[in-house]
Amino acid sequence: MTTTSIQMRSLFQPESVAVIGASSSPGKIGYKILNNIISSGYQGKIFAVNPRGGEILGLNAFTHVSDIDSQPDVAVVAVPASRVFEVIVDCARRGVKFATVISSGFSEVGNLEEERKIVKYAREYGMRILGPNIFGHFSSVVSLNATFGPRDIPSGNVAIITQSGALGVAMIGKTSVQKIGLSTIISVGNKADLDESDLLDYLRDDPGTQAVLMYIEGIRDGGRLINSLVKTTRDKPIIVLKSGRSKKGAIAAASHTGSLAGSDDIFDAIMKQCGVLRAENIQEALNWCKYISNAPRPSGENTLIVTNGGGVGVMATDACEKFGVPLYEDKQRLSEEFSAVTHGFGSTKNPIDITGEASVGEYTSALDTALNDGKIHAVIALYCETAMMTSEELSKMVIEQNQKYQHQKKPIIFSLFGGSLTEEAVSRLIEHQVPVYTEVYESISPLGALFRFLRYGRKTEEFIREPEIDSQLIKTVIAETRKDNRQFLLAHEAQTLLRAIGLAGPNSRVVKTIGETVDAAEEIGYPVVMKVVSRDIIHKSDVGGVLLNLENPHEVMDAYQTIIHNCKSFRRNAIIDGIEIVEQVPKGTEVIIGARQDKSFGPVIMFGLGGIYVEVLKDVAFRALPVSHQEAQMMVRDIRSYTMLMGLRGEKRKDIDGIVDAILRVGAVCRQFPEITDIEINPMMVYDQGSGVKAIDVRILLSKSERNT
Ligand code: COA
Repeated sequence: MTTTSIQMRSLFQPESVAVIGASSSPGKIGYKILNNIISSGYQGKIFAVNPRGGEILGLNAFTHVSDIDSQPDVAVVAVPASRVFEVIVDCARRGVKFATVISSGFSEVGNLEEERKIVKYAREYGMRILGPNIFGHFSSVVSLNATFGPRDIPSGNVAIITQSGALGVAMIGKTSVQKIGLSTIISVGNKADLDESDLLDYLRDDPGTQAVLMYIEGIRDGGRLINSLVKTTRDKPIIVLKSGRSKKGAIAAASHTGSLAGSDDIFDAIMKQCGVLRAENIQEALNWCKYISNAPRPSGENTLIVTNGGGVGVMATDACEKFGVPLYEDKQRLSEEFSAVTHGFGSTKNPIDITGEASVGEYTSALDTALNDGKIHAVIALYCETAMMTSEELSKMVIEQNQKYQHQKKPIIFSLFGGSLTEEAVSRLIEHQVPVYTEVYESISPLGALFRFLRYGRKTEEFIREPEIDSQLIKTVIAETRKDNRQFLLAHEAQTLLRAIGLAGPNSRVVKTIGETVDAAEEIGYPVVMKVVSRDIIHKSDVGGVLLNLENPHEVMDAYQTIIHNCKSFRRNAIIDGIEIVEQVPKGTEVIIGARQDKSFGPVIMFGLGGIYVEVLKDVAFRALPVSHQEAQMMVRDIRSYTMLMGLRGEKRKDIDGIVDAILRVGAVCRQFPEITDIEINPMMVYDQGSGVKAIDVRILLSKSERNT
């Protein structure tokens, strides 16, 4: 158990709780919270605090926290925002360990200063703050309902952490209706002090929690969150719901990496990287939580569908593909095993179709065969309502089958489709905690989520070793750029930086006069490319600052004059630092590698198909840095055009090892030098396997000040 986890215990398993702002007016939040604590069966000490004293809900109220004769572990604060600071001062001085601040009126309405003041004061006394702007928390291990939500919260093994209070309160009701028991539900509100990472540190070690559902709106310390998620998801599933999928929240940025990365794309990619399961909507999240927190852990992924309806069988096959559920394919074995339990018109291919004629006995035999078969690891049982079994027979059979195979590590999922008789059966089955759904896709999605969670847990943890880079040379390049008061590197500086990280670019020279052009071009070898080097011109091609295919001294000298002319016509006073003469490299497959400092997650890296189509195709993959070698390989495999890199139609496989190496090198510099805010290589030419990669065009931006380093 970690230190944080032990410290957090006092929040989830307090020996005493004080309600500050306890009230005898039933309409007030201070009344509801106290009432919930008393009636939830909490066995610890409860203190009510109200300046008027007297009796509240059968308790003698203290007029002041300092009058309480022992140190409360938790103080639930439900007084108006203007009074919160004085309450926090009293609580901190009295030795309260955690204050859960229900009150609204802080950073969510722009009152950040007051919120900071509260946290600062509390920290000086070692007191931690949950909230403000929360509905409270529930902890089943000590039967504590310190919320102003519903009174009865069913206990169970799912923990919910929510940033939205109202949604959290509604989820209490929803989970109750759907028979999902909670180990805790906790609202983090403005996250002024404690955030999801702190709570995960406790929940990871909590034996009563088997799955964690998180509703997130915004991320404060992405790096810390990533750490907590990675540590948790190897053992416990985390299901996340995040609002803000739309592009409006996308990060404004000066590079492709930024504009391609809606903040949601980065969030999505990083959640996958951390093994977190991201649900599309609340119902899907709840389904996953309920299923995964109770399902046995199978020894493999061979899945068999048993159905009495051909149509739903086909739909289930589609759903399995969509949710990554692999179907068992050994046709010969299936025919041997299942011929005896299928009708003449049925099928022994997966899905096993026992047809609409199947009786309850025949359905049972088919399931028995599937569940006793050692090669089959999970079973999806589909049922379409027929006149061959009654609702009672159906639910009895399902309950028995579900129970009979509980001891085997074999997940079963039932999907029953039909009218009122089937709906009745479904309700009965839910009461008996059977994993049952009425819609095929809905039933298969949780199984896919279970497999994804288990796959992540099996992934070998790789030690991350960043490649060596020449830090001294990088510092020198940055210092020179800073000296010149620039936030971007000129072409030759960027090339030096690339050399410092060990990446090859085309051979090049920067010349300052027309007289130098021919010598430089001849040293490099024809044909060459010429590009303007100017602090005033970012988009060189757009203004005629780049000329290709220059084959001889005449063309090189003409090009020099043309480029200067074009650039001066674009901006008369543009400072021209020189003209870069660059080796014209052979054509390869164009890819893009970009890395940047993300506002939420810190350094992130992107890889994708490059060149001019990058923004049209948006075929890119993201990861948080640092990445392991294995993760960098996965990134390359993640893009849709991966097959192209593997060599299409007789073409040779491209140098994927070279790409992976480049990802690691760009990642290393971005992570080790936070003042490099953006680095983007586009295009990077990738040649056939063994022939390497070449960074053709590089853009590197620096932060405003050096402070980020
Ligand atoms: N110590 C102890 N009690 C105090 C106090 C202090 N320093 N200052 C005031 N109180 C008492 C009041 O006397 C009152 O008790 P009473 O009913 O006996 O008079 C009680 O605390 C509540 O104060 P009151 O002024 O009546 O406020 P309220 O109950 O109308 O509202 C909040 C208080 C916290 C509920 C309200 O300010 C608020 O923030 N509401 C939004 C909560 C919310 O939605 N949170 C987010 C959920 S997701």
